[in-house]
Amino acid sequence: MSYVLIVGAKSDIAKATARGYAKHGYDLYLAARDVQELTNFAKDIATRTHRDVNLIELDILNYDSHQAFYDNLKEEPLGVISAVGYLGEQEKAQSDFSETQKIIDTNYTGVVSLFNIIADDFEKRRSGFMVGISSVAGDRGRKSNYIYGSAKAALTAYFSGLRNRLYDAQVHVLTVKPGFVATKMTEDMDLPEKLTAQPEEVAEDIYKVQQKGRDMLYTKRIWRYVMMIIKMIPEWKFKEMSI
Ligand SMILES: NC(=O)c1ccc[n+]([C@@H]2O[C@H](COP(=O)([O-])OP(=O)(O)OC[C@H]3O[C@@H](n4cnc5c(N)ncnc54)[C@H](OP(=O)(O)O)[C@@H]3O)[C@@H](O)[C@H]2O)c1
Repeated sequence: MSYVLIVGAKSDIAKATARGYAKHGYDLYLAARDVQELTNFAKDIATRTHRDVNLIELDILNYDSHQAFYDNLKEEPLGVISAVGYLGEQEKAQSDFSETQKIIDTNYTGVVSLFNIIADDFEKRRSGFMVGISSVAGDRGRKSNYIYGSAKAALTAYFSGLRNRLYDAQVHVLTVKPGFVATKMTEDMDLPEKLTAQPEEVAEDIYKVQQKGRDMLYTKRIWRYVMMIIKMIPEWKFKEMSI
């Protein structure tokens, strides 16, 4: 058996990714809060692919539970994929620190807490892959979402350091930077069609790029060039813009 652990498994991107990995012959640990909501989803994957699919409760903000969560997996996973995220409300976060903290802790602190534990294990075993879903929002701070963006920027830097640390141990770390994706996180937004991916496209890109052992994925691919241009705009000009 070869298990992949997917955390934040109720996410639309995570669900598409879970289907993809099962289709390619991996067994699954799906971890989420209120994970029983995934019961029918898990049965459907197991029936279609004849893979072993396990549901495990995990709150990424309950840091003290992370070691036991990982130790209690019946078999060590071959890889881990995190799709945990919380966009939050930027305006609320500006005046309510508890919202700021929830955005930072969900997108950054919680993922770091769990990935630190898994990284130690993979490093000892000298194998494994780690995939973290960050965001293009972490490439440059914008007034519309800079609390979320700064947490994702921290996460991107964390994955970069982790990749560098685990290189000698042959553990592969992939940072995923989606642009717009049509999921429940963005359902209230009016997204430009040409720049917006479906969760299934993102999942397919993740699988392909992870299997190739690449370090970074922009998805859709066009976001690599969009962000290249956005990062080139000088700060004195950028501060005047509303993008
Ligand atoms: N959609 C986009 O345009 C976009 C763009 C760039 C990056 N991303 C990133 O892609 C990833 C997946 O997002 P998505 O678009 O698929 O949105 P989503 O469906 O809202 O997924 C986010 C997931 O994070 C989980 N989560 C939040 N707090 C948690 C906690 N305390 N413990 C455990 N799980 C928790 C949510 O669980 P519940 O279901 O229980 O709330 C949800 O399933 C996220 O990291 C997001 O930041 C998305």
